[in-house]
Amino acid sequence: MKSFFITGTDTGVGKTIAGGGIAGVLRRSGKRVGVLKPFESGCSNSGGELIPEDAVFLKKLSGCTEDIDVICPYRMEHPLAPGVAAEMEGVSIDLDRIRSCFKALKKNYETVLVEGAGGLMVPITGNLLTSDLIKMLGLPTIIVSRLSLGTINHTLLTVRYALACGISVAGIILNQITPEIGKAEETNPEVIKRFSGIPVLGQIPFISKEKRNDADFLVDVIQQNIDLNSIGLSQAVT
Ligand SMILES: Nc1ncnc2c1ncn2[C@@H]1O[C@H](COP(=O)(O)OP(=O)(O)O)[C@@H](O)[C@H]1O
Ligand SMILES: [Mg+2]
Repeated sequence: MKSFFITGTDTGVGKTIAGGGIAGVLRRSGKRVGVLKPFESGCSNSGGELIPEDAVFLKKLSGCTEDIDVICPYRMEHPLAPGVAAEMEGVSIDLDRIRSCFKALKKNYETVLVEGAGGLMVPITGNLLTSDLIKMLGLPTIIVSRLSLGTINHTLLTVRYALACGISVAGIILNQITPEIGKAEETNPEVIKRFSGIPVLGQIPFISKEKRNDADFLVDVIQQNIDLNSIGLSQAVT
């Protein structure tokens, strides 16, 4: 089974919700799913220990038993682009270490889902962008973007940039982060599909606050709304 890099048009668009949900669906069908969040900034500080919330969430939903230091090798406290936070905190991000973590996960799991920070042009070191890491790992991407007004431009820019870098785009997931549905939400999926030439794998509906931390509910939502079979992530129970 293929591995994927889950990127987005921005921070806060639903990469973790989508990645965790996909991991949960695959786990439910008996697959061994590894997760990697190479760097996480904005970690909370618990008595000197930095807690990477996204990585902890991905680990929980995937059932990946790898050590959190492999799942999330670089953690920073400042809620900034990883490259900027790392520089500020004297952390030296080494892509070879990330490659080693990915290889270790690849060895033990059928598929590895990698979640980036923000979008493709987010700095991860003083002179490298997220897109450089994706190329180094050689992974196809899944782009998560908002469903609402403004998303056509952000999504198409992300697709065009990915393709210009030689990064393949397997599909787009549109996420409804706000409860309102208007004309933009109704028309955006078709317009994005037409102009990008990339399949839209589905839409994640708005999830109420009470349900957002309910892992089983999230996995149900992703299973019902996102077409994973079309990108080779088989949901068949093995
Ligand atoms: N479909 C949705 N419905 C409601 N809230 C959502 C939805 N998707 C994401 N959110 C919320 O939006 C915020 C950002 O989502 P997250 O997955 O963390 O984004 P990213 O990983 O891209 O930064 C989180 O608080 C999350 O709970
Ligand atoms: Mg996230």
